[in-house]
Amino acid sequence: MVDRHAQLRLDGTEHELQIHEPTIGNRGLDISKLRGTTGDVTYDPGFANTAGAKSTITYIDGGAGILQHRGYAIEDLAANATFLEVAYLLLFKKLPNEAELSVWKDSVRNHTLINEEMKRFFDAFPRSAHPMAILSSATTASSTFYEEFLDPTDEASFHESALRLMAKMPTIAAWSYKKSIGMPYTYPKNSLGYVENFIHMMFHIPAVEESSIDPAIAKALNVLLVLHADHEQNCSTATVRGVGSSQANLFASVSAGIDALWGPLHGGANQRVIEMLQNIVDDPDATATSMIARAKDPNDSFRLMGFGHRVYKNYDPRARVLRAYADEVLDAVGITDPLFDIAKELEQTALEDDYFIERKLFPNVDFYSGLIFRALNIPTRMFTVMFAIGRLPGWMAQWKEMTEDPDTRIMRPRQIYVGDIDKTYVPIEDR
Ligand code: CMC
Repeated sequence: MVDRHAQLRLDGTEHELQIHEPTIGNRGLDISKLRGTTGDVTYDPGFANTAGAKSTITYIDGGAGILQHRGYAIEDLAANATFLEVAYLLLFKKLPNEAELSVWKDSVRNHTLINEEMKRFFDAFPRSAHPMAILSSATTASSTFYEEFLDPTDEASFHESALRLMAKMPTIAAWSYKKSIGMPYTYPKNSLGYVENFIHMMFHIPAVEESSIDPAIAKALNVLLVLHADHEQNCSTATVRGVGSSQANLFASVSAGIDALWGPLHGGANQRVIEMLQNIVDDPDATATSMIARAKDPNDSFRLMGFGHRVYKNYDPRARVLRAYADEVLDAVGITDPLFDIAKELEQTALEDDYFIERKLFPNVDFYSGLIFRALNIPTRMFTVMFAIGRLPGWMAQWKEMTEDPDTRIMRPRQIYVGDIDKTYVPIEDR
C-alpha cells in the first residue's frame, strides 16, 4: 500500500498527516501526533468526523444506504440467516458451517439459566422499574457470579463471558418484563431455539396450558434481532469500546452500552416512535402535519422520532427491510394496526417536505421496528430491551476487536478549556 500523507498548514508551518487507507469508504487523516508537535488539538463535537478505530466488522455507506457485516449485505442476512448465525459471524469473523453452528447453538443453550440468587435481585426493583434499568443493572451484577472470567486480556475469559451474556440476556430481559406485570418468572426451556425460548419466557403463564409458538412470530423476531446486530461506531458501541479501553470487564462494558442505548436519540427512539404515533390517535389536535410542523419549529425541542441519522443521508436500509416486512407480519398475526397507517402517512408527508428533503432526513430503523414489536405483542417499554438483545453480539465483537488492536489506548479525549483561571479562594462568609 502506498504510504500517503496530507499536508496541514498551521501558523505558516507544514505538518504531514499520515493517511490511513480504508478498504472502502472514508480515509482517515492521522492527527494522533498533532498535539505533540503543535500543541493544538482538533475540535469535533460528538466525534462526528473522527474515526476512533480501524474496524473489520461493519461497513456503512450512509449516502447510498448500504450496511454490511463482515462483507455481507444486511438484506441478505435478514432474509437468510438466523440471529445466532449472525452473532457467530460478528464474533468469530466468518459464517459458521453446520458443525460450528451446532456447537455454538448448544453452547448458548447450555447457559440460559441465570444464577438462582439473581431472583432476589429482580425482586428488589419496584414494579414500575423500566426494564432497561433492570437489564443494565443485571448485566453488571452478572459479573459478580463470573469473577474467574473478568480478565479483559484473556482470550478464553472473553469467550466464556460472551457466551454467558448471549445466553442470559434474553432470560434477564424476559424476567424484567415478568417483574413489571407481577407474574412468576418463567425458566428457559432449552429444547427451544434462541428466539422461541425468549418468546416462551416472555409469554408463558404457569397456570395456563402451554400453546405452541407461532413460527411467523419467531421468524419476525429473528429478522428484527438480525437487523439490530451491529452498526459500527454508534453511541452505545463507542461507549462499550470506551469503557472497555480502561480494561473494564466485558459485563461492565456491555452494561454501559445498554445505558447509552436507552437514550431517546439512540435506541430509546423505538419506544418514543410508538408513543408519538399513539399521541396522534389519542389527541384530536395532533396530526401528521402538526407533528411535522412541531419538528420543524426551531423553538420546539420536539423531533420526529424515528427520523434522521448521523450516518444515513438516505433511507436506512434496516428501515427499508422493516417497512416492506411490516405488512407481512401484520397479515401473519392477523391484526390491523391504525398506527401503521399513521406511520406511512407521517413518512410520506415528511419525505415531501422541504425541511426533511434539505436535511436528508429519512426513516431510521426505529421508525418501523416498534410497529412490528407491537404486532408481536412485545410491550412498548420492552422495545429498547429488544434492541439491546439484538445489538449484544455487535457490542461484544467491537469490544474484542478493541482489545486485540495494538493501536488501542484508554479513551481520553482532550478539551478546549474556556473557563476562568487563577482565581483565589474566597472564604464562604465573604461570598
Ligand atoms: N426531526 C426534526 N429535525 C431533525 C431530526 C428529526 N428527527 N433529526 C435531525 N433534525 C434536524 C436537526 O434539527 C438539524 O437541523 P438544523 O441543521 O436546522 O439545526 C439537522 O436535522 C441535523 O441534525 P443533527 O441533530 O445535527 O444530526 P445528528 O447527526 O447530530 O443527529 C439523530 C442524529 C439520530 C440524533 C437525529 O436525527 C435525531 O434526533 N433523530 C430522532 C431520534 C431518533 O430517531 N433516533 C434513532 C436513531 S437510529 C437508531 C439508533 O442507532 O439508535
